[in-house]
Amino acid sequence: MTQHPVQNLLITGGCGFIGSNFVRYWLTEHPHSRVVVYDKLTYAGRKENLADLWDDARLQLVVGDIGDQALVRGTCQQQSIDLIVNFAAETHVDQSILGPLVFTDTNVRGTHVLLEVARELGIRLHHISTDEVYGHIRDDHQSVEADALAPRSPYAASKAAADQLVQAYAITYNLPVTITRGANNVGPYQYPEKAVPLFSTNAILGEAIPIYGDGLQMRDYAHVYDHCTGIETVLLRGEIGEVYNVGTGREMTNLEMVDIVLASLGKSHDLIRHVTDRPGHDRRYSMNVDKLKTLGWQPKYDPKEAVAEAAKWYAEHRAWWEPIRSGAFREYYEKQYAERLAGTAQ
Ligand SMILES: NC(=O)c1ccc[n+]([C@@H]2O[C@H](COP(=O)([O-])OP(=O)(O)OC[C@H]3O[C@@H](n4cnc5c(N)ncnc54)[C@H](O)[C@@H]3O)[C@@H](O)[C@H]2O)c1
Repeated sequence: MTQHPVQNLLITGGCGFIGSNFVRYWLTEHPHSRVVVYDKLTYAGRKENLADLWDDARLQLVVGDIGDQALVRGTCQQQSIDLIVNFAAETHVDQSILGPLVFTDTNVRGTHVLLEVARELGIRLHHISTDEVYGHIRDDHQSVEADALAPRSPYAASKAAADQLVQAYAITYNLPVTITRGANNVGPYQYPEKAVPLFSTNAILGEAIPIYGDGLQMRDYAHVYDHCTGIETVLLRGEIGEVYNVGTGREMTNLEMVDIVLASLGKSHDLIRHVTDRPGHDRRYSMNVDKLKTLGWQPKYDPKEAVAEAAKWYAEHRAWWEPIRSGAFREYYEKQYAERLAGTAQ
């Protein structure tokens, strides 16, 4: 198996949830690497996520938009970047339903700009995609990498377009690229609009937990640590031009996930409210992860353990999320849930 040299990384979206976990993991495991985090610092991007690392001489921050071609090019040239890892994205499905255009700007055009810079400078690019590009999956199937993409939300469609642009650049320009498609991640530093941190922080505060529809949607909840080791495996040993699914290969319903969150926090089921479903809500995601396993990767966490551990992290890190929940988050929460929750008292 080829071992690719990876020395100077440009990590776009490195101040977000998965990006910041990946930067911390990478610098711990690869002490001789240098990392430049390139991040626009949107509402989801937080410098505090890497507060313990900014004094480390191996890490630098460039604040910018991935759509700014001159800044991306200049940064890659000045920092002798040999690999771009693209985590940067607008990432929340509900936000993509409320205001979709920024998803096209960042996820499609932004990724396209990174591809152009990579082509100009002859740099390898690894793209972080998602299981949502496959659309919802019938009960007797698990998505494999060769499956057709069938996205159903503006978020998923923008990620599918980016995924296909990356593949097109490999074919048309012979650009060295790899792609990982991650399952739903849970763990530290996830912005509390997403289900597990939203339900955990609501439960900690004694607030209602709004569950879309019957709550029987199936998801593979993977620990962000396993996503990081999966990406690392592909960066070091992945076949250039190939796509790899990263998840646990096991699913649970959202109701089961909430059970685990409540048990982990010692909170009551009385907090649960079933609310009007998300339009076009995908019923089931499920991925086969055998291809990544052929590179020697194995997930460390069982999905139940991953959800329970994540919920506990939010109980132990109130100082991280309390300021977030009182800001722009509140406005979003009201818009998304106030009407849905009205009149659902037990
Ligand atoms: N969270 C999941 O469960 C999950 C699962 C599979 C794949 N993914 C993918 O992983 C990646 C990271 O997801 P996340 O959950 O960490 O997201 P996140 O929303 O927590 O972080 C996104 C980061 O990107 C930055 N960003 C946004 N627009 C930008 C722009 N135009 N230019 C530069 N930076 C910009 C934000 O400031 C933030 O730091 C995304 O590509 C997402 O599609 C996420």
